[in-house]
Amino acid sequence: MSDSTIRTGIVGSGFAARFHYEALRQVYSRDVDILGVYSPTAENRTAYARERGLRSFSAVEELIEAVDVLHVCTPPATHEPVAVAALRAGRSVIIEKPFTGYFGDGSPDFSGDTFDREQGLEAATASIRRLREAEADSSGMILYAENWVYAPAIQKEREIIEKTGSQVIWMHGEEAHSGSHSQYYGIWSHSGGGSIMGKGVHPLTAALYMKKVEGRMRGRGPIRPKAVNAQAHAITRSPGYEDKGFLRTSYTDIEDFGHVHVTFEDGTFADVFASELVQGGVHNWLEVNANNHRTICNINPNTAMQTYNPVDSQFGDIYVVEKTGTKQGWSFPSPDEDWFTGYQHEMEAFYRNVAEGTPPESDSLLGADTIAVVYAAYVSTQRDGSAVDVPLL
Ligand SMILES: NC(=O)c1ccc[n+]([C@@H]2O[C@H](COP(=O)([O-])OP(=O)(O)OC[C@H]3O[C@@H](n4cnc5c(N)ncnc54)[C@H](O)[C@@H]3O)[C@@H](O)[C@H]2O)c1
Repeated sequence: MSDSTIRTGIVGSGFAARFHYEALRQVYSRDVDILGVYSPTAENRTAYARERGLRSFSAVEELIEAVDVLHVCTPPATHEPVAVAALRAGRSVIIEKPFTGYFGDGSPDFSGDTFDREQGLEAATASIRRLREAEADSSGMILYAENWVYAPAIQKEREIIEKTGSQVIWMHGEEAHSGSHSQYYGIWSHSGGGSIMGKGVHPLTAALYMKKVEGRMRGRGPIRPKAVNAQAHAITRSPGYEDKGFLRTSYTDIEDFGHVHVTFEDGTFADVFASELVQGGVHNWLEVNANNHRTICNINPNTAMQTYNPVDSQFGDIYVVEKTGTKQGWSFPSPDEDWFTGYQHEMEAFYRNVAEGTPPESDSLLGADTIAVVYAAYVSTQRDGSAVDVPLL
């Protein structure tokens, strides 16, 4: 191990912890020593560590002590305490999306269906402030793990905006599929919301990022979100929903559809759709309409490959694409899904930022603005979609 080796640790041993590890193994420009993992269930963390030849830590504090960088791959309700502990110890933290949020008042009868959204906005804003203050007081930094920012299609569009001097006039985008797998998702006190929070943040952050790029290209700071209108629905929990078994239905107190209309301070806007109600695999895209061009960024699916398979069972042990319902007939296999989603580009960029002390493209301000929009959107849903100002820090 050389002096310049960056020691890193992962908190969480679930889905995100797995793809972070894979992406870490593809960081090529820096030496990264993946030291170990902590997650609360001993059996899970031991299995995760054993499979990868890592050390299993029984306390998060010990892992923080041992590393330079901590990956926060845990349910959203735990992002703030884990990240703040690491920042206080002078470590840099890679925080998975969503940045932070409001997870209830701690009472056993808290319900995501009925709480006052104004209170949620206030609490989420306070959490954002605590995270940003912890970062300001730390020798470490926050790297906000929004992989869409690093997805090759989004970065190609950044280049187009920068080199052609575009004004981005309006955008629309979506993240949707047939339902999240995580057991924590669907319970507001763990996830901090439903589709808008869990899925909408991806295209939303990408849209905010485009206006950040445009602002920077014009020699000023990011063009920030100003106001939001939103609608939310809970279709799979509604009494009239007829379940045919193709969509997940086990949500406790969250929305399964959301539409967010964000207006930026320069009067331009973005519309974001998020849902658990879409079949046929993950549907992730952002369309950018500028004054000089139009781009459609297809994160998933895309047509790098199209395959016709007459019999589903032939592809039994072939991974085709995330959350596809069937492998029979025509499909769009992703030859390297993690590449299209930007996971390895994100990790490579983050470790360069850490080594060089440079600010990440996806920083705490982008994470903060995203969450401010999300919780202002929830206030708007409570007011039948009327416009709500986004509180900016
Ligand atoms: N960028 C992406 O494409 C993407 C995809 C999936 C999930 N995520 C994000 O990653 C995060 C984790 O989601 P997931 O799908 O991996 O969930 P998961 O349920 O698969 O795993 C969560 C892990 O966190 C651990 N954990 C729970 N409470 C903890 C605590 N207090 N301290 C430490 N560890 C704790 C659990 O034991 C588990 O190992 C979420 O914020 C989610 O939104 C991002």
